[in-house]
Amino acid sequence: MVNEIFNFDFKVYDSIDELNNEDAELLREARKVTQFAYVPYSNFRVGAFAKLVNGETVSGTNQENASYPAGICAERTLMSVASTLFPNVGIETIAISYDNLNGKSNRPISPCGICRQSFAEFQQRTQHPIRVILSGMEGKVQVIENASNLLPFLFSADDMK
Ligand code: THU
Repeated sequence: MVNEIFNFDFKVYDSIDELNNEDAELLREARKVTQFAYVPYSNFRVGAFAKLVNGETVSGTNQENASYPAGICAERTLMSVASTLFPNVGIETIAISYDNLNGKSNRPISPCGICRQSFAEFQQRTQHPIRVILSGMEGKVQVIENASNLLPFLFSADDMK
């Protein structure tokens, strides 16, 4: 038997004011685009804003549906936009924020399991790690250098070989 350990380090900043200009700008934009979410069912607006490896920027928001599972998260909307406009171009950094119309938005949330799986395939496809910035409309900011850290034990195409 071997005891294996998975751990990773990430940074926690007290607020957006501690970020460098570029990261702060991405987070500001993520906060701003939450207004374009379509959330009649959850009242939970999520906004994502990313800088791509080619320097372009893209955004995404969650878009819900009366048939609940048909809804899509902000992160996967963003990845669809990115790979449609700029096929196979990696994501350098993605900032994710949210506006909770029923409550507070003062701490980071992190991407759901399906989005983590989608990040993993996006990274593999573009051969580029995705840096992730997480924060609410105010408060602490987490920075994770590689989205792979969010999903140990992932299933990938390699498992089907
Ligand atoms: N949601 C996202 O868009 N991204 C996340 O990281 C977490 C959850 C959306 C899905 C749904 O529209 C709403 O937030 C509540 O779950």
